[in-house]
Amino acid sequence: MKKFVCSNCGYSSPKWFGRCPQCGEYDSAEEAILEKKGREAHASLLLNLEEASSLSLERLSTGFSELDRVLRGGLVPGQVLLLSGEPGIGKSTLALQVCEKFAEKGTVVYVSGEESPQQIKMRADRLKLKNKENILLSTENDLDAVLTETSEKKPRFLVIDSLQTVFSSELGSSPGSVSQVKAVTMKVINFSKKRMIPAMIVGHVTKEGEIAGPKMVEHMVDTVTYFEGDRRTGLRILKVVKNRFGPSDEVAVFELEENGFKQVESPSFVEEGVELPGNVVTCVFEGTKPFVVQVQALVSKNRVFAPKRVGKGIDTSRIMLLVAVLSKVVKIPLEHHDIYVNVVGGLRITDPAADLAIALAIVSSYLELPMPGVAALGEIGLDGKVRKVYNIKRRLGALKGFKKIIVPALEAESEEESVIAVQDLREAVKILGGDFSVSTRVDREDKVDIPWDRPEEGVG
Ligand SMILES: Nc1ncnc2c1ncn2[C@@H]1O[C@H](COP(=O)(O)OP(=O)(O)OP(=O)(O)O)[C@@H](O)[C@H]1O
Ligand SMILES: [Mg+2]
Repeated sequence: MKKFVCSNCGYSSPKWFGRCPQCGEYDSAEEAILEKKGREAHASLLLNLEEASSLSLERLSTGFSELDRVLRGGLVPGQVLLLSGEPGIGKSTLALQVCEKFAEKGTVVYVSGEESPQQIKMRADRLKLKNKENILLSTENDLDAVLTETSEKKPRFLVIDSLQTVFSSELGSSPGSVSQVKAVTMKVINFSKKRMIPAMIVGHVTKEGEIAGPKMVEHMVDTVTYFEGDRRTGLRILKVVKNRFGPSDEVAVFELEENGFKQVESPSFVEEGVELPGNVVTCVFEGTKPFVVQVQALVSKNRVFAPKRVGKGIDTSRIMLLVAVLSKVVKIPLEHHDIYVNVVGGLRITDPAADLAIALAIVSSYLELPMPGVAALGEIGLDGKVRKVYNIKRRLGALKGFKKIIVPALEAESEEESVIAVQDLREAVKILGGDFSVSTRVDREDKVDIPWDRPEEGVG
């Protein structure tokens, strides 16, 4: 049995209190252990693993099966999740939709430090929420005051929107400051763990894409998610970058519609225009799910300024490395060209299996050689060799329908005619060049010298 004692005046109550009803002190409740079944009252604070494993960790659905999937079955009681993302990406919308699910069976508290009740109501109406009477709203920025009242309502779920706009009045510093952000996070964690209710903290990100505030916050919470996307396609990608209750690197995809987010179980990151030069498709694994994505490259001449390498959805360092291999091994002179590489749909890819597609997209743009119906899988080594990728069968399954799928030689056990095995990048380029309209420019017999360089149309 539990008892809470005020550390200031000694008042005791079986219920937790945020503010002592006797002396009025805030946050003075301390838990006192009275007795424990099967153990002496003075039993130690240590718990053996057998006992610990009997403590249930039931999973609570968020209302989106895709979100539940990336969280390994839903939220766990006491779990604190950080939902971070750029302004306007849809954090508040998603948080409110998750509230709706929890509100089916009880009270939910949504603390907004940045919007008025009218704004939130307008959003709730637009989302056509059905359980509005169970969603309690607070637009108070003083977290201590809000948590005291929240505690009495015994909510099933708590949202703090956002970490940078609420503050603890115990600290003198202003909202959003390092000490405030830490203190707010700690208070929400304590609140959530003590009462075993899941909580979602919305966090802003800086221009560089980092969570605004100390890195410490990411260590403190159980789960860190980034919400990103491509405003053009309306697709939003939620990436789990840390999770104490499941694997990380999982990705869920949503689409923003008039009445809120809809999950997209089989998203397509392939747009029209894939038949134009500079486009090659690949399949990447984000966590345990394969995604078919289109890689787009633009190579343009620049003899005046230092050449640029710009990536959207891909690390620039990776582009630089692939360009170096293309120059050195395939002898494509790219030193006087700007190179832009973009992943369609806003996915940020880290899977090295995309290397071959990125390199081929650059070649395709440089040569103005379209590669329609071509998909490529393979990591590229510094020597230009195309290295094997894991889960090739599932990737090939996802790429079904493509006319040519270029894969690493060691992986080529497929009987499909469309699957073409290559040893290295040079071979891949040759195969694609030989089969397209510019084949006359590529002498397949000539293994040494390939006249890649296009005629110059004047300098500058
Ligand atoms: N009436 C509407 N119909 C469709 N979409 C809308 C409508 N009003 C707003 N939106 C979209 O909802 C998104 C904003 O969502 P939301 O306010 O949840 O974002 P946020 O990440 O919480 O932003 P902030 O960082 O400003 O708090 C925007 O992309 C906006 O275009
Ligand atoms: Mg918001």
